[in-house]
Amino acid sequence: MSETWKNFLPIVEEAIANNKILRAPKELYTPINYTLNMGGKRIRPILVLMASELFGKPAKESIELALAVEVFHNFTLIHDDIMDEAPLRRGKETVHKKWGRDIAILSGDVMLIEAYKYLSKANHDKLGEMLNLFNQTAVEVCEGQQLDMNFENNSKVQLAEYLQMIRLKTAVLLATSLKLGALNANASVEDADLIYDFGQDIGIAFQIQDDYLDVFADEKDFGKQVGGDILNNKKTYLLLRAIKEASQEQKKEIENILSMKGSPNKIKNMIAIYKQLNVLELTQKAVQEYFNKAMLALDKINQSNKQKAPLIDLATQLLNRNY
Ligand code: IPE
Ligand code: IPE
Ligand code: MG
Ligand code: MG
Ligand code: MG
Repeated sequence: MSETWKNFLPIVEEAIANNKILRAPKELYTPINYTLNMGGKRIRPILVLMASELFGKPAKESIELALAVEVFHNFTLIHDDIMDEAPLRRGKETVHKKWGRDIAILSGDVMLIEAYKYLSKANHDKLGEMLNLFNQTAVEVCEGQQLDMNFENNSKVQLAEYLQMIRLKTAVLLATSLKLGALNANASVEDADLIYDFGQDIGIAFQIQDDYLDVFADEKDFGKQVGGDILNNKKTYLLLRAIKEASQEQKKEIENILSMKGSPNKIKNMIAIYKQLNVLELTQKAVQEYFNKAMLALDKINQSNKQKAPLIDLATQLLNRNY
């Protein structure tokens, strides 16, 4: 049977279902179980498992690493939703809306530690290297999140700075997920680095697509508040590209919209400008560009095309997703 990425999803779901935290106090752990069991695409743990199999280790033998990255990711989402004042996640109320900020902070903190507990169970002669990689990535995600917030109040952000910010806040974790699976399967240093590069470019494409969906998705599919980035003056690919393409007059209009207080009109007017400037198409082109770049790295990996097929399949679907 040809492997598709969907074959890996039940392995992840089963492991998550079997790892509910049943300890007290319930105020601390209920939000954690809520978050981990409210769905999500499970891309990062699937990437761990796929890389593991690509380099010859059965997926199930990398499950602890898969859990480590998914729990870490869910921790970042809980804290990100506080920072972004987001009301909705995966179609449900966010943790800070449902239980308050204090609980959201503390539940997130525990999840970070839980992630390390899974990582330390990987019990492998590469544990030191894995820890270094995970630590570096965790710090980079925080750096990316800080830049993302800094940029809300900076009207001069350049596309190159934006790309660095999304590399940090999003792409490195996808890259690291793949590399952890590769390391666990004893891939060569070259192949482990190549799969990291592949993941990083897929991650950049993935975040640009997330920016796109934040404006143009259907809220029911997307599961997050549509227009949230516009309300927060986030420096997204769409906004920076619009500014780059705009005439003097349109630049003024964009500045006006940015200074508007949060209202449905703010979202409506920004979408109108994006449409005028053809930003939808330009954004999709950028996604494709990073996808192509990722494929160049994947090409160089010393495995057959047949073995790489599930990764290509996943990457293609990710960048054509509507949620
Ligand atoms: C959301 O990640 C945060 C971003 C980096 C855009 P996902 O889109 O992978 O979220 P879930 O886990 O599937 O809900
Ligand atoms: C989040 O970026 C990246 C991290 C959680 C580290 P976003 O703020 O765009 O993610 P969403 O859109 O809320 O999922
Ligand atoms: Mg957010
Ligand atoms: Mg954010
Ligand atoms: Mg987003």
